[in-house]
Amino acid sequence: MAYIEVENLVKTFSEHGKKMTAVDGISFAVEKGEIFGFLGPNGAGKTTTINMLTGLIKKDSGTIRVLGYEPEKNWELVKNQMNVSTAYFPLSDVLTVEQNLKVYARIFNVKNYKERIDELIRMFELEKVRKRKVVKLSSGENTRVSLAKGLINKPRVLFLDECTVGLDPDMAEKTRTIIKDYQKNNDCSILFTSHYMYEVEELCDRIAFMSDGRIIRIDTAENLKRLIKKNTVEIAVRENAIGLKKLLEDENVSVLFAENSSVIFEVTSENDKLFKVMNKIFKQGFMLSNLHIKKPTLDDIFIKIARGK
Ligand SMILES: Nc1ncnc2c1ncn2[C@@H]1O[C@H](COP(=O)(O)OP(=O)(O)O)[C@@H](O)[C@H]1O
Ligand SMILES: [Mg+2]
Repeated sequence: MAYIEVENLVKTFSEHGKKMTAVDGISFAVEKGEIFGFLGPNGAGKTTTINMLTGLIKKDSGTIRVLGYEPEKNWELVKNQMNVSTAYFPLSDVLTVEQNLKVYARIFNVKNYKERIDELIRMFELEKVRKRKVVKLSSGENTRVSLAKGLINKPRVLFLDECTVGLDPDMAEKTRTIIKDYQKNNDCSILFTSHYMYEVEELCDRIAFMSDGRIIRIDTAENLKRLIKKNTVEIAVRENAIGLKKLLEDENVSVLFAENSSVIFEVTSENDKLFKVMNKIFKQGFMLSNLHIKKPTLDDIFIKIARGK
């Protein structure tokens, strides 16, 4: 069963008498045990979608099902089984870390909440700031408290909206491990947004690309990267690069740069073209002193989609 199902979801806002569509009829499903990524430029509608799914704002139209139920009609059945964490989530500034977590433990009706809070404080390395008021926390500490809040009730449906913003690389890596372990050890589904592509690639089973309120494509990172067929190759040769340039042009390869001993060219990943071109270069006896092949990354795809290409 899909743990999250969304059909034709629409949300418009009106501001100063003008209507704008933030979410424009999107449909997707997140399967049990899946980490599903939401990617898209600022203002694409990711947070608005999550806010509708978590009941924070009302949809205009469409259908939402969480764990098989429509939350609007069965709020009591689903509310304690989901949770959300975002770096922008307003925790109470005047309460300490521990007090904030206690409040959420009560909201979610967590049994053995003391043990659960201890466990989360250990997990997110918050021992030192446990008794500190949230207003005094660094942004990274704040983010970790928000993550602890998101896991307090061991949700089966977890929404993580830019939840790693502000973390240093070490903590961000630990957090990804916590998320992966949590997903593995619990019967749950995660909807994950982030602007860090490597993070999305590492964590997500599938990715939905959103732009202007619409989902443009849903696929695995692997398949998305295949959408761009060009590899960029940089070669430094021992001799002057003019001969190499000629060879590449004879092979119908697009040469972007050729000066002194360096050549940069683009070659498609289809039909073993890259392999064939490299083979030819070696066969002709060119002596390479450096070789760098840049394959398309999720960043390249993101930029293309964000620019409407
Ligand atoms: N409460 C609101 N009132 C008016 N416009 C809003 C409101 N919330 C979001 N928006 C607009 O909806 C669009 C989508 O925003 P959002 O879902 O936050 O995007 P994302 O999370 O993908 O960056 C943006 O243009 C944003 O300005
Ligand atoms: Mg957002």
